Order: sequence, then C-alpha cells, then structure tokens
Amino acid sequence: MAQSWSPQSWREKPARQMPDYADQKALEAVETRLKTHPPLVFAGEARNLSAQLAQVCEGKAFLLQGGDCAESFAEFHPDNIRDTFRVLLQMAVVLTYAAAMPVVKVGRIAGQFAKPRSDDTETRDGVTLPSYRGDIVNAMEFSPEARANDPQRLMQAYAQAAATLNLLRAFASGGYADLHNVHRWTLGFIAGSPSSERYRALAGRISETLEFMEACGITPASVPQLRTTDFYTSHEALLLGYEQALTRIDSTSGDWYDTSAHMLWIGDRTRQPDGAHVEFCRGVKNPLGLKCGPSMEEDDLLRLAATLNPENKPGRLTLICRFGADKVGEKLPRLIRAVEREGIKVVWSSDPMHGNTIKSGSGFKTRPFDRILKEVKAFFDVHRAEGTYAGGVHFEMTGQNVTECLGGAQAITEEDLSSRYHTHCDPRLNASQSIELAFLMAESLRTERMKTRFAQSA
Ligand code: TRP
Ligand code: MN
Repeated sequence: MAQSWSPQSWREKPARQMPDYADQKALEAVETRLKTHPPLVFAGEARNLSAQLAQVCEGKAFLLQGGDCAESFAEFHPDNIRDTFRVLLQMAVVLTYAAAMPVVKVGRIAGQFAKPRSDDTETRDGVTLPSYRGDIVNAMEFSPEARANDPQRLMQAYAQAAATLNLLRAFASGGYADLHNVHRWTLGFIAGSPSSERYRALAGRISETLEFMEACGITPASVPQLRTTDFYTSHEALLLGYEQALTRIDSTSGDWYDTSAHMLWIGDRTRQPDGAHVEFCRGVKNPLGLKCGPSMEEDDLLRLAATLNPENKPGRLTLICRFGADKVGEKLPRLIRAVEREGIKVVWSSDPMHGNTIKSGSGFKTRPFDRILKEVKAFFDVHRAEGTYAGGVHFEMTGQNVTECLGGAQAITEEDLSSRYHTHCDPRLNASQSIELAFLMAESLRTERMKTRFAQSA
C-alpha cells in the first residue's frame, strides 16, 4: 500500500539540490503569498496532454519538447518568446509532414528557471561563493550579493511565467500558428543556410496542399485546427516549495495538479526513489518526465516507474534518455528490455544534449552538433532493433542566432563560440541547428512510416 501523500509530504524526505535560504521566514511568507495566486495552467489541459502522450506511447504521435536550458530574467522579452515558439513550430511542421502523424508540442518554457548544480560553491581567483542555481534562486554575477539566495525571486519567476504563458496562448490560438503562415516563420538569419532552403521547399509543398484543400472547401473557417495548435509548457520540478505553492485540487476530478506547468520532469540528480522530488511528483496528476542518465539501472527504473505510475497509465510517464552518443548503444537496450519484460507503458524520448557536453579549448562549455545528431540516430536505431517506438526528443534550443554548439550547416567553430555565447547555463542549439535536427528525425520517422505502409499493403 502506498503511503499517504500530500503537497507537503516531500518535506519529510531528503531533498537534494534545494537552496538554503538565510531568512526562512521570508521564504515562508513568499510561499504563502504564492498559494493565493492563480494557477498558471488548468488541470483539463494537463489531462489533454496526458491523452496526447498516450497516443505517443502507442506509436501514433511524436513528442517534441524543447526550449531554453534556463530561462533568465534579463533576457525576458516578447521577441525571444516569439522566436523560440516559431522555431518549435517550424520543427513541428517538418515532423508532422514527414511522419504524417500528430506532433505533441511541449516547451521548456514559462517556468524553466531552477538549475541543479554539481557543486554547491564556485571558486574564482581564490574567492569561493555559492553556485548560481538559476534566476528563480540567485543571480549569475560573481558577487556575494548576487549569489545570495533571495526568496523574492520566486515571485518574479511566477510573474514572468504568467506573462510568457499568456503570450504563448495568444500565439497558439490567435492566428500566429496558422499553417498558412508556414513561410512567414522563417527567420531572417537562417535564410540561405541549407536547412532553410529545405524548409522553404517543404513550406512550398504545404502551401500548395492548403490551396488544394481550400478549393475543396477545407478552410480555416470550416476546420479551425488549421489555424490553431496546442502548445504545452514544462520544466524541471526542482524547487519543491514553489511547486507545492502552485499545487491545487482540481474541482472536476478531485485530483491534485501542479498548476505551474502542464508537464514536469524529475532530473537525473534528484531521482532518488526515497527522495523528496519523487515523493512530490508521485502525488500530482500532471504527466511526468524522468531523466535517465548512464547511472540509471534497470532495477532503479522499475522501482521508479512503480512509484510514479502505479496504475501503469500510458501517457503518465515519459523516459527522457540522456546517455551521451557513445553510451546509448550500451545503456538503452537494457532499459528497454526491462520495461518491455514488465509490460510498463512509457514514452521513450531522447535528450541528446546533456550527455554530450564538453569543454572547448577556449574554456567554453559546448556540445558538438554531430554528437547530438549521433545520439538521436543511435536512439532511433536501438528502438528499431528492439521493436519499440522512439517517441520523442527533448532538447535545449533558442530562437536566437547564438554560437553555443559546435558545427551544424553554419559550421560553428571553436573560435566562433565567443562571438554570440549567451546561455545562462548549458549550450543551446540555434534556430538553424534545431531545424537540421528536425529534418534528421523526420527522415527516420518517414522511413518507419513507409515500412509500416508497405507491410500493410503487402
Ligand atoms: N492543429 C494542427 C497541429 O497542431 C495543425 C497545425 C496548425 C500545425 N498550426 C501548426 C502543425 C503549426 C504544426 C505547426 O498539429
Ligand atoms: Mn541543461
């Protein structure tokens, strides 16, 4: 029998990666205030996402989850939100067209502020200060004032998440995401790159199809799905006090939902089966992600799946695999076989970013684009070999023209890294690299589709 759960039952468990606040009273005051603030998402929306993820689980849809490594207060700007959103739309269109299957769009956005860190402190030139843990906790600048954990930042994160979500909702349903805009989503700076040429060609085919359908009477007025899309939000459930404050009972179902985002995930560093993060997440009905790194053993995974999804509901649990290009081939098959043997229902998603981070010669944290692609390819290959479904991808990107990951069609070199390296945390794909990644996955999905077609007609 599972032990009783409440939104604060995590407080009885050991919690890793949680900041210490000097002024506990101030923290409590902020959390109390947050509890009176409106939910950011509705339970019904989270349920819709669960249903769509159940479709992914059955191989009938594909999960596209991406956005910033860490959102920041300084870069909060409508243009940045728009640019991220439109790159995700472009990727979605490429995948929807190639696979001829629905793409479930989930942003790492409107709440992705808190970061787990390997070390509690950082030392520069003999000075040691607390590590930067994301704008919701402290500031990046290397000074004692900036690095002090400030509970007021929870309020600012909430406000920024609310404003971001408001704009995303407007974009998703107000006409911006209309498929007739497929040409307009192309960003200026990627024009001329090989992936933008490919994208333009595909957009041309879609426009032609839309004209044909329009002539047949299928218009945005008659079929609203042509002009709107469902866009969901997600972030790592790291700062449990914040998550608890936004956890509410849904009056329709009587279930608890964490209304800070549609989907939440548990990081690879906070997935201890008896730890606070697993305890919190098991009690909320939102769809959950679980990051699986090289240290994830079969037994750990089975135990976590039993705790997080005791009813084995498809769509409840997404395994986000981040092994590194060299380790997927060895680690992934074992996990797949354990899951298959136990009949556990999960969505398999690939995070090709976090296992492929290196330090460049010039000291920048970077990720070679060819290793990112290699991990995604290996992920698809392993699933093909095991007869299971590679259902999604989870990546860090920005709509800005940054130079943070090496390579890609623009051939970003070690020397280029310094020119536009803006990330607050991990190196992200830029727009052009993101679209290249989408085309690569589209090819794999298309091959699978052709095979299924052929099998059906034979
Ligand atoms: N509503 C459909 C979907 O979300 C079609 C669609 C409308 C779409 N706008 C889109 C698909 C933008 C991808 C990108 O899938
Ligand atoms: Mn990251």
